[in-house]
Amino acid sequence: MELQLWKEILTPYDLAVEELTVKFNHIIKEYRQQGCYSPIEQVTGRVKSISSIIGKAQKKHIAMNEIEERVEDIAGIRLICQFVNDIYSVVELIRNRSDMKVKSEKDYITHMKESGYRSYHIIVMYSVETTTGTKEIPVEIQIRTLGMNFWAIIEHSLQYKYQGNIPSYVKERLTSASKAIITLDNEMESIHDDVIDAQNYYYIRANIVSDILGNIQNLYKCVNKKEIEKIQDEFYEIYQGGDISKLEQFNKQLDIVAESYRMQSMT
Ligand code: GTP
Ligand code: MG
Repeated sequence: MELQLWKEILTPYDLAVEELTVKFNHIIKEYRQQGCYSPIEQVTGRVKSISSIIGKAQKKHIAMNEIEERVEDIAGIRLICQFVNDIYSVVELIRNRSDMKVKSEKDYITHMKESGYRSYHIIVMYSVETTTGTKEIPVEIQIRTLGMNFWAIIEHSLQYKYQGNIPSYVKERLTSASKAIITLDNEMESIHDDVIDAQNYYYIRANIVSDILGNIQNLYKCVNKKEIEKIQDEFYEIYQGGDISKLEQFNKQLDIVAESYRMQSMT
């Protein structure tokens, strides 16, 4: 097939990966703006390279004209979570979305692959609008923890290096590494709530600080230099103290000050 034709075929897949990357990143942003813990930690996406598509089609005896129908991972999204439980929250989140239709699911966490591979896979059908019209395409979403991702990346590069024939002594190491990651994931799960509390605290604080800085910036327009300096000094002092309730209190005071200046300017 000509390169130009490949490019045309891959255009909607490229668009789907771009759109979904934006959408999942926005979910992270929304959680954090609300001062909440996000079950998704990181998003990546890729369109399968032409050579991998051809390689897969040959391996699975798929004819060229059947590729689009039978290769379901041309568009791929990877969602990385901190905890195993988060994976199931993300699965639920995807099931509830109106812009993706779940086609199939594979739980390689409850049913680990023989290789030691663990992840949750969902194939969704996703619609994109291109200059040639609407097209619904499959997208493979892989959801895994940071630990599972670490293992999968290492194993994948070894598969590549040994061209699928990993020597048994390396396989054994990989199996034991996979077990170590299960232990790690379980250990992390047991301190899940503590970690989430700490992270919530971080984002709530970051949001208040950003509000305060916005308020101070607005006051620059109407308050004299001396007063602003006083406000800033007070802010630094509270900031260093690290007490969220004091920061909140301070922000409320700033709101009142800002409001009184607004009233003055109106009269
Ligand atoms: P593929 O032909 O690999 O797509 O297999 P499949 O269609 O039966 O789907 P499966 O759910 O098994 O795998 C889909 C994808 O998951 C693969 O393309 C890999 O990205 C990943 N994957 C599956 N098994 C392994 C594994 O043992 N090791 C690693 N590193 N990745 C895996
Ligand atoms: Mg597949």
